[in-house]
Amino acid sequence: MLLQPFYDPLKTYEENYEQGPFGAFADHQIFKDEGEPQYEFLGRKVFAPFGIPAGPLINSNFVKAAFEKGFDICVYKTVRTRAKKVNEWPNILPVKVRGDLTLEQAQKGLVVKKGFTEPLAITNSFGNPSFSVDVWQQDIADVIKWANGHPGKFVSGMIEGTRWGANFTENDFLKDWVLAARLMNGTKVHGIEANFSCPNEGNLVKRLLCYDIAQSQRIADAIKNEIGNTPLVIKVSYFQSDDELRSLVKELGRIVDGISAINTIPSAVLDENGKQALPGGPWRLKSGICGAPVKWAGLDMVERLKFLREELGMKFAIIGVGGVMSVDDYHQYVESGADAVMSATGAMWNPFLAQEIKKAIK
Ligand SMILES: Cc1cc2nc3c(=O)[nH]c(=O)nc-3n(C[C@H](O)[C@H](O)[C@H](O)COP(=O)(O)O)c2cc1C
Repeated sequence: MLLQPFYDPLKTYEENYEQGPFGAFADHQIFKDEGEPQYEFLGRKVFAPFGIPAGPLINSNFVKAAFEKGFDICVYKTVRTRAKKVNEWPNILPVKVRGDLTLEQAQKGLVVKKGFTEPLAITNSFGNPSFSVDVWQQDIADVIKWANGHPGKFVSGMIEGTRWGANFTENDFLKDWVLAARLMNGTKVHGIEANFSCPNEGNLVKRLLCYDIAQSQRIADAIKNEIGNTPLVIKVSYFQSDDELRSLVKELGRIVDGISAINTIPSAVLDENGKQALPGGPWRLKSGICGAPVKWAGLDMVERLKFLREELGMKFAIIGVGGVMSVDDYHQYVESGADAVMSATGAMWNPFLAQEIKKAIK
């Protein structure tokens, strides 16, 4: 059953930022964990290795509300080194998908559906907006202070380097990543996640960063040098090629503390008349698809990452993301090899998902 979402797709991003969260996240009733936190996640104890990935937690009010409802690992939505505007509303639309969203289906494009109904599949297209650094640094510092006063909470801050113009060189891009890492580390956040997989970057990007292994390696290395002991997680998309995934793990697996997979699966999204569904230029034709039909891809990546980690004798944590809507989905991820599991779409429409999982794993 779908409950009222804590991020309201019918409202603008700004309205959500100012008035949210909504539904049960707004009642501030605190779920009380029993005993001591038993699970370890990147050097900190949590009550359950479960949380919400970068996306729907757009500011400290959302992160605190998620902690109150029992989500122990929360990722603050992606921020940048300068302010950047959000894409035009709507930023979330429901899409029709029957069964798993295969890559062939995604290639052909998808059509929107009328309401947010099960099986829940959505597209999200925000363009990773950011407030200015002083705003997000203060906001994240506030939530860290709160989390440090409560046992078993892990706050991760998601960063993204930006090509701030056509003249930006690859070196400028790398420096922007390092600056973002330094600014995020300044908040004393528990962990930093680097978004190597944003599908909504517009026309400046030809290929997702995570598929450019050499560039990813340079950036991860530079970030890790900057942040020292703060854990670093990279977020990647689905890899079709085993060779490319092997090369990613080989080159980055000893630099990073965790790999999170997957981000969304990109697809063209059309309205019922076959026209581009999201307003804006042609760069907005394609956007990321998430929810129930992408679970297969997250599970597949987790299994392959686990295999490679063993084969290459590495230690990075595996964070399974994609299509987690239920306690069963959580179990499937853990059985596939995830050290921690996260849900964005499922959690949005079920604010009690963490509590259901905690009850099941007690
Ligand atoms: C509303 C929304 C916003 C998102 N924004 C981001 C983001 O800023 N950065 C990011 O790396 N992923 C973002 N994502 C992707 C999620 O972190 C996740 O990888 C993806 O949605 C798959 O998980 P799910 O099926 O549980 O939604 C967003 C997802 C949603 C639903």
